[in-house]
Amino acid sequence: MEKITYASLGSLGEEFHSQFDAALSKLTRTFGKTHSLLIDGKLEKGKETFGDISPSDTRVVLGNFPLATVDDVMKAIAAAKRAYPPWRDLDWQKRVALLRRAADLMMQRQFELAAILTLEVGKNRFEAIAEVSEAIDLILYYAQQMENNDGYNIPLVTTGAEQTRSVLKPFGVWAVVSPFNFPLALATGMAAGALLSGNTVVFKPASDTPWSGVGLATVMHDAGLPAGVFNLVTGSGAVVGETLLTNGDLDGFVFTGSREVGLKVLRDFSARSPKPRITEMGGKNPTIVMPSASLEDAAEGIVRSAFGMGGQKCSACSRLYAHADIYDALAEMMVPKTKKLKIGDPRERDTFLGPLINERAVKTFNSAVQLGRTEGRVLCGGNVLQDGARAHGYFVEPTIIDALPQDSRMFQEEFFVPLLSMAKVHSLDEAIRLANDVEYGLTSGIFTNDETEHAQFFNEIEAGVTYCNRRGGATTGAWPGVQSFGGWKASGSSGKSALGPYYVSQFMREQSQTIVYKR
Ligand code: SIN
Repeated sequence: MEKITYASLGSLGEEFHSQFDAALSKLTRTFGKTHSLLIDGKLEKGKETFGDISPSDTRVVLGNFPLATVDDVMKAIAAAKRAYPPWRDLDWQKRVALLRRAADLMMQRQFELAAILTLEVGKNRFEAIAEVSEAIDLILYYAQQMENNDGYNIPLVTTGAEQTRSVLKPFGVWAVVSPFNFPLALATGMAAGALLSGNTVVFKPASDTPWSGVGLATVMHDAGLPAGVFNLVTGSGAVVGETLLTNGDLDGFVFTGSREVGLKVLRDFSARSPKPRITEMGGKNPTIVMPSASLEDAAEGIVRSAFGMGGQKCSACSRLYAHADIYDALAEMMVPKTKKLKIGDPRERDTFLGPLINERAVKTFNSAVQLGRTEGRVLCGGNVLQDGARAHGYFVEPTIIDALPQDSRMFQEEFFVPLLSMAKVHSLDEAIRLANDVEYGLTSGIFTNDETEHAQFFNEIEAGVTYCNRRGGATTGAWPGVQSFGGWKASGSSGKSALGPYYVSQFMREQSQTIVYKR
């Protein structure tokens, strides 16, 4: 079957569904299996394991995964250090070829990888297959960047007998630490950036998504990456994450996840000497709707963006500033659309919204809704769902809240649950001022058909990823090579975005080379 993209999602037919269902059945037969670490090219059982619990039904153990110890992490780092010199010295074209082979394998395994995402994260099948396609495209796009930049080795100005070049070179061994929400695509993108540019990798997946991590490690191993170039250590943040952060033996750290952990990485990783850290953190992403907008497009784009994957995207829209002239009409369109979303078992083909990732997320949902009820008014949703087949999972209703005071925490804090707070504004100036009045700056959207408002929005909004009139997702749905994806302010540290043309070069340091030839 052809590679699936966001554009082709709407036209997926029976062949897609039957292959996806077959992959689900195959994986169901493996439930409870014990998986391994990948260290120095070898699969290693852990001394202890932890259960990967299905968020759709907490009675189901999807698999058991090693709880890596400090010793395991140190072994993985040592293996990555040994593997580094030959990997660095390999022609970059050969590294590109190996990573392209990994992309081919992902393509061959796309249904199995997507089914893991549905079972482990609770993504609906369309979101799951799209994530696998994104992971493939991340490798291909970053590989293309190596080619476009001739391996980042370019001549500088030659004067007389002096010949000079600028060469970007890898740093060494990188920790790659990925979040639960895009466990395959984000891990693949970060690892591919590091590997293509000649670094080796020790990879820790989020504790909630070790299976997706094993899926990626297996692809890298089977693609023929030399032993030690890509190592997998599953386990806890307290042991694995902390050891990666503080052992002092790594050369770079790339992280996507919460602001709290991202700031810790920025603070602790280079406490002893300067070292590169790339951190992509959260967002509190606003959408603005002005009177000239198509309200149907706005309602659709906002609902998709706020509630797709249960608001558990860094890019999810969680604040809406709608002009007073269209505020009520927009709310009247959004509420029925939200109520119609099918919430339930993500394995079913017509489910839109699966479960939240874990119990902590449900607690966050409950306390944020409680705050919303106290300070404002719940327009729809607000409940945890525990009926019938949803009795044993983390299912909640997508929720819209309005009539909040302007300084409510609901407009400031990232909750990472399906919760949208809306407020009335009277001008674009006011909307942009409120949109910018947060610590985060990841994604932002606007709906307006007035071109001067497009220009003002793009000029004044403080966010790394911006969209105008996007029915497919007001603030979500970036794609490699199409939309760069990176945060400003507290949402990101490097000012260079993933999915974009400047990403790979961040994993390298510049050397200027001058040769003087005798005349
Ligand atoms: C994310 O990384 O959380 C989502 C990416 C996107 O929706 O653009």
